[in-house]
Parts: sequence; C-alpha cells; structure tokens
Amino acid sequence: MLRQLHSLPGLIVGLFALVLASTGAILALDPVLERAGASVPAAGTMTVADLAEMVQVRFPGVERIERRANGAIIVSHVDGTTMAADLFDPVTGAPLGPWQPSAFQRWVKSLHRSFLLDDPGRMAAGISAGAMALMTATGLMMLAAAQGGWGRLGRPVRGRGPGRWHARLGRATLGTLVLSSLTGLFLSLATFGVIDDGEGDGPDFPFDTTAGDPTSVGELPALWTVDLKDLRSLTFPQPGNPTDVFGLQTAQGAGYVDQSTGALINLLPNSGARKVWETVYMLHTGQGLWWFGIFLGVGALGVPALSITGALVWAQRQRARPRIPGNARAGSAETVILIGSEGSTTWAFARTLHQALTAAGQRVHAAPMNRLAPRYPTAQRMFILTATYGDGAAPASAERFLDRLARTETPEFPVAVLGFGDRHFARYCQFAIDVEAALVARGWRMLLPLIKIDRQSAQDFAAWGREVGGALGLNLALEHKAAIPRLKTLKLVGRQDFGCEVGAPTAILRFGPASEARGWRRSFSSGLPRFEAGDLVGILPPGSDLPRFYSLASSSRDGVLEISVREQPGGLCSGHLHSLKPGDTIQAFIKPNPEYRPQPGRAPVLLIGAGCGIGPLAGFIRDNRDKRPMHLFFGARDPKSDFLYERELRDWLADGSLSRLTTAFSRVNGHDYIQDRIRADAPAVRDAIASGGQVLVCGGAAMAAAVAEEVGRAVAPLGLDVAALRSDGRYLEDVY
Ligand SMILES: Cc1cc2nc3c(=O)[nH]c(=O)nc-3n(C[C@H](O)[C@H](O)[C@H](O)COP(=O)(O)OP(=O)(O)OC[C@H]3O[C@@H](n4cnc5c(N)ncnc54)[C@H](O)[C@@H]3O)c2cc1C
Ligand SMILES: Cc1cc2nc3c(=O)[nH]c(=O)nc-3n(C[C@H](O)[C@H](O)[C@H](O)COP(=O)(O)O)c2cc1C
Repeated sequence: MLRQLHSLPGLIVGLFALVLASTGAILALDPVLERAGASVPAAGTMTVADLAEMVQVRFPGVERIERRANGAIIVSHVDGTTMAADLFDPVTGAPLGPWQPSAFQRWVKSLHRSFLLDDPGRMAAGISAGAMALMTATGLMMLAAAQGGWGRLGRPVRGRGPGRWHARLGRATLGTLVLSSLTGLFLSLATFGVIDDGEGDGPDFPFDTTAGDPTSVGELPALWTVDLKDLRSLTFPQPGNPTDVFGLQTAQGAGYVDQSTGALINLLPNSGARKVWETVYMLHTGQGLWWFGIFLGVGALGVPALSITGALVWAQRQRARPRIPGNARAGSAETVILIGSEGSTTWAFARTLHQALTAAGQRVHAAPMNRLAPRYPTAQRMFILTATYGDGAAPASAERFLDRLARTETPEFPVAVLGFGDRHFARYCQFAIDVEAALVARGWRMLLPLIKIDRQSAQDFAAWGREVGGALGLNLALEHKAAIPRLKTLKLVGRQDFGCEVGAPTAILRFGPASEARGWRRSFSSGLPRFEAGDLVGILPPGSDLPRFYSLASSSRDGVLEISVREQPGGLCSGHLHSLKPGDTIQAFIKPNPEYRPQPGRAPVLLIGAGCGIGPLAGFIRDNRDKRPMHLFFGARDPKSDFLYERELRDWLADGSLSRLTTAFSRVNGHDYIQDRIRADAPAVRDAIASGGQVLVCGGAAMAAAVAEEVGRAVAPLGLDVAALRSDGRYLEDVY
C-alpha cells in the first residue's frame, strides 16, 4: 500500500514534478545573484528617509522606490517623458545602471508557477506539489521500514543498485523536498483562495490630508522611524498635487504619509494570515534569505536524479514481477509454495522449485504469503520461502501472514521453511525464524528444519533441494539460474600451494587479463574489471551454470585478481581451480560486496580469519596505506604447511601496514584454535572496540560462530554484544 502511494503519484505527475524541481533550481539562483549584486547597509544604520533623500537627489523624477527581499534597491522614475527603472546603491548613493528583469527568468518563473498555462497550469503545479509532498512522506516511511525503524534512518543504506542510490538521495534531499513541496502546495492553495493569504484591500486612501506645503522627503517623521531593512516600497506623491500622499509598504504593514506634516495615516498592520504567507513565500523562494536559496536549489537538483533512480527501481520491479507458468489453483494443488519477498528475487527461487516439482509430476500452487488460505483441501505439503526485511521484519508480500496464520486450521500435511537473508544483518533470516516458530506453536508438522540461504546462494539452494528430494523420495535438481553478468576471461599468472601435507589443500591464485590492453589503452586500464578487496568473483566451473563465489584478496589497483581457494572433496569449481596451470583461463564476473569493507577512518580494525579466509583480510592489509592500526588473528593447521601469506605478513608488519599478528595452529604443540587466541587476548579486543574499532571475520561457518562467541565475551564488560556491533556495522562476516 505504502509502495503504491509512493510510486503512483511518481508515475502520474513525475514529469510535472521534474519541471517544477528543475525550474525551482534555476529560480533559486535568483536571490543569490540578486544578493551578490546588491550592497546592503547594516541594519539600524539607515532609514527610509535617508534613502529617499539620496534617491531624489539623483532622480528628481522618482515615482517609486522598491526594496527587493535580498536588499536590491530599484528606483522607478520619469526620465524626460519615458519611464525608466534603475538599480541604486544605498551605501554610495550612486545609480548602478538600468534594471532589466531577465526575460529568461520570467519565462522560467511562469513555467514553474503554471507550466505556461494560466489557471489550469497553476492547478497542475499545485497538484504536482501535493504529489511531491505525498511521495516524500511515503518515501520516508518506506525508508524507515527498510532501515529497521525511525531511530535507524541515519544509518548506512542497505541494498544495492538504483534502490540504494534512490534511498540515499531521498534522505540527503529530504529537508528541501519536504519544505519545497509543502510550501509550494500552500502557495498554490492560497492562489486559489482555499487558504487565506491575508492580502486585504489595503489601507483606506486618506481624503483629509493637510494639503500644506510639501516638506523635504528626508525630513518626514514617518520615514525617519522606518529602518531601511523593513522597507518594501515607497511611492511618491504626484508632483504639484498637495492633496496626494506617499504610499508606504513595510515588513509590518501598509499606510500613507502626509507629504506636508510627515504623519503616518491609516496604517494597516499585516494580518496574521499575511505574515504566515510571507514566511511561507520566503521559505519557498529563498527571497530574503539568499543562502537558503542555495540550500533549496541544491535540493531541487536532487529531484531529477531521484526521478531517474525511482524509474529504474520501478522498471527493475516490473521485470522481476512474479510470473509462474502452469500455476495450479490453491484448491487442487498437492504442493503449496508461499513466498515472502520485497525485492522479488525470492520469487525467482520459488519459480525454480515450482518448475522442478511440476516436472516431477506434482500439481503446484505458488502465491504470496499474504494470501495464505484458511484450508488447502488437496495439499500434501507446503514450502514457505521468505526473505527478511528492515531489521528482522516481514517483507512486503508477507506482512499479513502471521495474522492470517492465527486464523487458519492446523493441517495434517507438513511444512518446510526456507529463509533468504544476508549474514551482514544483525537479525539474519529473522522473519523466517519467526515464521517457523509461529507454525510450530500452532502445531504444524515440520518436513525439514529451517534452512537459511545467505545472499541468494544458488549453491545453498541446490543443497536444500537435495534435502527436500530426499524427504519426498524425489530426485530434485534445483538449478537456480540467477542472471549472470557479462563474463570476462582471465588467465592464471601465478599460484602458490599450501596445506597438502595437513589435508587442507589451499592455493593462492593470481589472475590477469586474458589479453593485455594495447596501445593508449594500456595507460588507462589494466585489462581487469574494477573491484576492491572483499568483493566477490563469481567463477563458472566447466559443466555447471551455477557460479561459485570467491572473496577477493586484491583490488584492481594491484593489477592482479587474487583469491585463495580451499579444494573441497569432490568439489567441481575448487577442484577445477586447483587443476589450473599458469596460462590456463577461467570465465568470471565481479559481484561487488560494498558492505564488507573496513569503515573509513583511523579506528582500529580487528581482522579474524582461518585457512583460505585470510584472503580478503590480506587484501585489506595491503590496502592499508594510511597505516591505521590493524590486528590480524590467523588460524591454520601447521606453520610449516599452511601458513598462507607468511612472507607478506612479515613485510606488512615491518612497514606498518599490519600492527599486530596473532596466530593459532591446531596441529602443533598447543592445539590452538583462533577462538582460543581471542580469549587469551580479550583485553586487546576490548580496547580496540572501546576506541571505536571494527571486526571483520572471514572463513568457515563453525569458526565464525566460535569467534563470535569469544568476541561477545570480550566486549561484554563494555555493555556491548556482537548483535549490537553488527547493527552498527562494526562486526562484519564473510562466511561460507
Ligand atoms: C560469499 C562467499 C565467499 C566465498 N569465498 C571463498 C573463498 O574465498 N575461498 C574458498 O575456497 N571458497 C569460498 N567460498 C566457497 C565457494 O564458493 C564454493 O562453495 C566452494 O569452493 C565449493 O565449490 P565447488 O564447486 O568446489 O563444490 P561443489 O561442487 O559445489 O560441491 C560442494 C560440496 O557439496 C558436495 N556436493 C556437490 N554436489 C552434491 C550432490 N549432488 N550430492 C551431495 N553432495 C554434493 C561436494 O562433495 C562438495 O563437498 C565462498 C562462498 C561464498 C558464498
Ligand atoms: C533494506 C534491506 C533490509 C534487509 N534486512 C535484512 C535482515 O534484517 N535480515 C536478513 O537476514 N536479511 C535482510 N536483508 C536481505 C534480504 O532478506 C535478502 O537480500 C533477500 O534475499 C531479498 O529477497 P527479496 O528480493 O525477495 O526481497 C535486507 C535487505 C535489504 C535491502
């Protein structure tokens, strides 16, 4: 619902809003330019009487003096027989040349206010401003939900692609968007009389003036008392007409001044409604607050970028919209698949499961979790595939599931829950956990225990498929084909082998481009794709469409793509990589992993990894050009066999890239594991965290769990735990 309220106005009035914002950005320059050209005396140093006297000396035919909100003084006067308008410097008393409002600015203003279409255009502009206000409010609510609550709005935005940029931009321009759209709506409603703008008929014209001899303008008492900064306009009486009066408009109100006595007549103070209108006008245009104009202009420039990224998000969602061919009806299905998804990727996994089960002869029904039916008369099993969103919350298509579950009868058939999530989040697959707990509490039978899939791993999904196949007595091959980016051919340029003697064959592999860049291109490109240490390289092993991911131990600036790979027994890709000889090639692509990086700054970084998990950590140390404190805990089996990066680590210790190295070897004397070293070094871990430090872990899941427990113990005296560090982005894991 919230999403519809956000994207519908965007799609309908998007173009209008774009025109409003772009013209608004141009108009915001007005007050800045005007201010730049104006010389403004300090408040309290000059009165209207002083100015009027100076002006009259230079322009004896003066008819009107106007002070613009940003301090520019414009004098309208009769020059011979023609009317003219000149800019005037109130400090020096010198004319600054003719005042010519730019035709372009007037055109832009008319486009901004009415799309050049008078009343219907003005109405469209008002509606667009209202739609912008609605989009800002709904966008903010969606962002708060995605971030896991209002208190987390300022945290780094999760997700990737245009969605991430849209959210970041929206957050950065939020203040100006709210202000511009609400004030624009207000001004529009005032134009159509829906809101009182307080513009009355003006003060009554005085007919009982003294009609005495005119006094010099500089000596009129009513004008002495008005500070120049409060002047809006001063209209001069008709020359030779003693009954005529000065018209005076100030920030406080309007009235007349007797040209003989200088008395203020029929003063009409601004009404409350007018004051509100003036404030809103100032906030919308920046007139009177030139620096505020810059703020408004920069914010307005964000709108085109927001429109583009918003349209891309919408298009992405349309493309990923669930289309499941041959979907059986809920009332006749043997297998029911319910999907909880926000960004639609879980639907693609559901489609693969649907196809495999249908091919195995099942009648399969797939639907969003929100459409849980009270009964499934023919069902024999149910699968629930759900993502987690916000901070452990339900994704959009599962928001009503738990309420509905409370109203369904408990079936005879069993259910299996498959959670999709991201280990970088503190509440990894939390919604799937909650769903399984709710099902168990209502007495549903479990076909399999909950399995969690990290970052849409097709490999883990295939492994889950094997378990499902085993439970159902079917041969279920779940080959989920995620869209694979363009592949690049890379050539092995070097390898170092470790761990064979201790049963943990691991290789550090270095790849370069298959063909060197030639000619002028050589100076600009290493021929490698762009990547950072900690990103992932996806490699397609021969004979499989499922890419395997490896954590990058180098950045493209190093000129090589480096990974460390442990050979798995019977492993297709790791086996293939271990069989490569220098000169052999692979097909690969880069999957950015921007969440897994040391945060910028000088705070200490604790790097913890075992075996080939040292790969990205070595990359971070190599990249530590600022020599910030980095402490590496490294675990392996035997220093004589699988001490990966041994020589480099010594060099990095010597040059300060690495400040401390702690090792644990499980097959020598002490039978030390990495978690033992962390326990022994708990004070150092605590000190690092107390001074704002961050922990990055990489390696196997069992090691990561043991490390998390020890780090949790070490930081407990600080009133912290790993969950708190995770939600602050200070405890990151790359676990496989
Ligand atoms: C984010 C991420 C980062 C990673 N980084 C690294 C890294 O830096 N270094 C590294 O070495 N690895 C890393 N991995 C793991 C890597 O992606 C591979 O999973 C690993 O190399 C195994 O792939 P494989 O093709 O060799 O094995 P697979 O052929 O996929 O087999 C995996 C295991 O399952 C078993 N298996 C396969 N098919 C079947 C079947 N039909 N029935 C029963 N069992 C089966 C195999 O025997 C094997 O033990 C990472 C994984 C992820 C998700
Ligand atoms: C804003 C945002 C918040 C997320 N919150 C969590 C979370 O709290 N826990 C988790 O395990 N995964 C979280 N994820 C990861 C998603 O659950 C995961 O990427 C999932 O595969 C997305 O599936 P979908 O595309 O079907 O929505 C979050 C992702 C985003 C973009």
